[in-house]
Amino acid sequence: MTAGPVAGVVRVPGDKSISHRGAILAALAEGVSHLRGFSPAGDCRATLTVLRSLGVSVDFDVDGDVVTMESRGAGGLAQPGMALDCGRSGTTMRLMAGVLAGTSFRSTLVGDEQLLRRPMARVAEPLRRMGAAVELSPEGTAPVTIHGARLTGIEFELPVPSAQVKSAVLLAGLRALGPTVILEAIPSRDHTERLLEWLGGPIVRTPGRTTVRAGELRPFDLDVPGDVSSAAPLLAAAALVPGSNLTVRGVGLNPTRTGFLRVMERMGVEVETLPGEFDPEPAGDLTVRPAPLRAVTIEAAEVPALIDELPLVGVLATQADGDTSVRGAAELRLKESDRIAGLMAGLRALGADAEELPDGFVVRGPVRLRWGVVAARSDHRLAMAFTVAGLVALDEVDVRGLEYLPDSFPGFAETLGALR
Ligand code: S3P
Repeated sequence: MTAGPVAGVVRVPGDKSISHRGAILAALAEGVSHLRGFSPAGDCRATLTVLRSLGVSVDFDVDGDVVTMESRGAGGLAQPGMALDCGRSGTTMRLMAGVLAGTSFRSTLVGDEQLLRRPMARVAEPLRRMGAAVELSPEGTAPVTIHGARLTGIEFELPVPSAQVKSAVLLAGLRALGPTVILEAIPSRDHTERLLEWLGGPIVRTPGRTTVRAGELRPFDLDVPGDVSSAAPLLAAAALVPGSNLTVRGVGLNPTRTGFLRVMERMGVEVETLPGEFDPEPAGDLTVRPAPLRAVTIEAAEVPALIDELPLVGVLATQADGDTSVRGAAELRLKESDRIAGLMAGLRALGADAEELPDGFVVRGPVRLRWGVVAARSDHRLAMAFTVAGLVALDEVDVRGLEYLPDSFPGFAETLGALR
């Protein structure tokens, strides 16, 4: 496709991970909380729906991006009259499992077909150790039925570097007797920890070790920064198309999330960061200009900081000089789709030299991408990555599955279109 440069100044929707956590912590705090810049993503709306079903008053002023919540606190959550629908949001299901484990009632988490295929034993296992009874399907998937109980703190070493599992245990730990200790070999996103610290909550952190205790939370007013994972496809587009110059304002710059920026820089992209004022999460403006790209190597220790951006790394790698290799990323197979298989199939359909590995991939570039039909496999991140690939293909790429884009970035196509 003859792509015009990607140029201008833009904002992206609020950070999805922080929005989920802000809403959940507001539901655990007695009183009125406000969340400004709340993400309009379908996944975050699923969290609000679940919290409403538990008796929390939730008002989402979509035009103003403000969510106002009023809760009677953790002890005031009410037994839902029906199954709690998490839609397509794995974060909703896993984090809420941690909350529900400490209640005095039985509840069931369900979701769309795609979510019903994702592994839930990773959260059920530590929550059972804490004292909750958790039922899963024979395959270890949802529906997740939780019989809330008086929990006891545990020491838990994360078997996979998953912030969702970590956060589920931290949230359960807020209602457990005695300390809950989490040991983490490779750091994953730490939004839950930062929010709890900011709230003066019962949390102590040292590198690789986090301890929480039972405690009440106060209501709060939170500013949610823009989602760096939603900025990423726009920045990748600007990095690829000659003549581009894109600034994204007010983006979250938590170092556990900005691995993609570091990787783009290693690839040769000009990334300028202008830090701003933001509490409890660092944020600022990002400007990207294109440059000739070179291949990079990404290994396990770096993966959690750019887990959701790895499909974009694959796309950039098709235009980079040399062999880009990503290893230690088997978790990618357990996302909204098997992102390794889906990414490789899509890139190959466009003519890329892309090799699938059990825990990652190798892409050899540069290759001029051609026209093709690619399947995003019900996966918003693949849909965005293939849309970006289309900007450097010889002719328009037909991406199947664009209807899943609003799971994280409603208006993605329009935002990208307005920049070109
Ligand atoms: C998320 C954590 C990541 C990420 C997901 C959001 C979160 O999943 O892929 O999009 O908000 O905690 P894992 O923690 O399971 O790797």
